Amino acid sequence: MTLNPLDEAGIAQAVENAKAAFSAAASLDELKKVRLAHSGDNAPITHANMQIRNLDKADKPSAGKLLGRARKEIQAALAQATQRLEAEDQARVLREERVDVTVPTRRNPRGARHPLPVLMEDISDVFMAMGWTVAEGPELEHEWFNFDSLNFGPDHPARQMQDTFYVDGVERVGAEKIERIADTTGLVLRTHTSPVQSRVMLDNEPPIYIVCPGKVFRTDALDATHTPVFHQIEGLAVDKGLTMEHLKGSLDHFAKSMFGPEAKTRLRPSFFPFTEPSAEMDLWFPQKKGGAGWIEWGGCGMVNPAVLENNGIDPDEYTGFAFGMGIERTLMLRNSIDDMRDMVEGDVRFSTQFGSTGRGA
Ligand code: PHE
Repeated sequence: MTLNPLDEAGIAQAVENAKAAFSAAASLDELKKVRLAHSGDNAPITHANMQIRNLDKADKPSAGKLLGRARKEIQAALAQATQRLEAEDQARVLREERVDVTVPTRRNPRGARHPLPVLMEDISDVFMAMGWTVAEGPELEHEWFNFDSLNFGPDHPARQMQDTFYVDGVERVGAEKIERIADTTGLVLRTHTSPVQSRVMLDNEPPIYIVCPGKVFRTDALDATHTPVFHQIEGLAVDKGLTMEHLKGSLDHFAKSMFGPEAKTRLRPSFFPFTEPSAEMDLWFPQKKGGAGWIEWGGCGMVNPAVLENNGIDPDEYTGFAFGMGIERTLMLRNSIDDMRDMVEGDVRFSTQFGSTGRGA
């Protein structure tokens, strides 16, 4: 049914219908639909408007005025409804998508393994891949294992109270827990992992190929480069015909496994009571801050025949090599850590940087 452009009542009704439909629309989608019906190309009012040109000339002005006003009114109602619905929509989004920043988060954050034990495992893995095994010994050690068996003379300066934590009260810690020690005087917190060499040699027949990662103690004050509790990894090989070449080859392989194919080691003459000859080991460190260079990494040497003898191994039949290095130092090099205290403070943010949440956790 078409609307006559001169039908004042009909036009007024169309306007009312449009207004009612617009204000009944409950969403912008609904409004879009009713908008087409009331002011689109097929809306009665639009048809009526198009028919003006068919009217008698005399009727055209009043029809034009009538429809012009009607269309204006419909547009105004539409604008109003649009505004209303848009405001409602915005209020709904604010309500429904509201984020309450005061709601407590999950307060059980994951911890992380400390990079030191992870590094000790990684190093042990390098040697285990070559068929070596991992050995352990006690941190509270008899002076004999820590010093005497390793050929430290009774007056060796390392025995001095300034370096070594001597431990009293053997009865209290339980003498029976300290294996193999008849006389329970002279306990120390081990100052290096080398006493494990002695324990392994006493307990095993060569061939011996072991690494021993562990905690060691010295009476240093905690500062950026020292800590009284730190970690070492010790290596010991005892077999027929071992020479310094085997030592050097093992160290180079170790260096490359840890620091990449360009890494290598260099030995400088040195002295340890338990090795002869002895050497300081330097590492060629390709990733060194400010350019590749040599860095002191640890000590090494051929096991002193006196040490083999002290521990029940015939030095005429067997030779051995040994090495030891600091784990903290290795970690500091590898990960550019400047301050040792970061490694002992126990701030979980330090550990999580290494992404070591996975292994064995
Ligand atoms: N025990 C020595 C230290 O703590 C390191 C070392 C181990 C040297 C084995 C030679 C052989 O400094």
